Amino acid sequence: MQGRVADRVAVVFGAARGIGAAVAARLAEEGAIVWIADGRPEGQATAERIGGRFLSCDVSKEQDVQQVVNAIVAEHGRLEICIQNAGIFPETMLDEISVAEWDQVLAVNLRGSFLAIRAAFAPMKQRNYGRIVLTSSITGPRVVPPGHAHYAASKAGLLGLIRAAALEGAPFGITVNGVEPGNVLTEGMRAERSAAYVEGMARSIPLKRLADPAELAHSYLFLASDEAAYITGTSIVVDGGQTLPEGKV
Ligand SMILES: NC(=O)c1ccc[n+]([C@@H]2O[C@H](COP(=O)([O-])OP(=O)(O)OC[C@H]3O[C@@H](n4cnc5c(N)ncnc54)[C@H](O)[C@@H]3O)[C@@H](O)[C@H]2O)c1
Repeated sequence: MQGRVADRVAVVFGAARGIGAAVAARLAEEGAIVWIADGRPEGQATAERIGGRFLSCDVSKEQDVQQVVNAIVAEHGRLEICIQNAGIFPETMLDEISVAEWDQVLAVNLRGSFLAIRAAFAPMKQRNYGRIVLTSSITGPRVVPPGHAHYAASKAGLLGLIRAAALEGAPFGITVNGVEPGNVLTEGMRAERSAAYVEGMARSIPLKRLADPAELAHSYLFLASDEAAYITGTSIVVDGGQTLPEGKV
């Protein structure tokens, strides 16, 4: 532990498991005071494991997100790091996507990120300091497999949101960035995708394997730290080279 985010107050939305849990653990290891906000009750156990606190929250709901930020600010008087990682990724071909499914994906992945930024901006502006990191994806901004129209739209939409928020946050010392993971072996990936999908992806990735969630966490830590003070409005691809091949190799 080097204390790269020592004593910073951080919230990670969508951190009961998967990438978010790894990010929360990494921030805690580096000295942050970490709050996990997630819809799954397992978030309580994850928070206990890393010495953090848990708040139940549906990130697509305005009131839930605001209550999380209010509770943290009431306790500490500040919020310095906000990671919005909650996301859902149903796989459905475009002509089978119902309006309800479309709306749900956009509500969690895109609206949730807007709500998190909006809520975090107030305490961050007050102290002229903030680090906001959103989980985008290579899916949407760079590539897309079949069955991901709504997901790709939501994750590509995050890039516009990141730029807009970065511009508006800059006068207040707030940076806003994204991470674009490739394929990561998480609980969600195992539940939502077939073994054949995972094997096929592994073969197509130059490093020949999916990422471990812990491998993603370092990029979030960097963007949340003071080392990234001059980086804003952009995103880091962490994909094992998946988006490199020009054709099938
Ligand atoms: N796994 C991958 O290969 C991959 C690749 C690119 C991007 N991503 C993105 O990374 C993020 C995390 O994915 P993961 O693979 O760790 O998924 P996961 O399902 O393992 O974990 C996601 C977490 O978010 C929470 N969550 C979902 N909807 C929520 C809501 N409405 N409110 C609050 N919490 C909610 C879940 O309860 C869970 O704890 C997502 O945004 C996903 O789109 C994942």
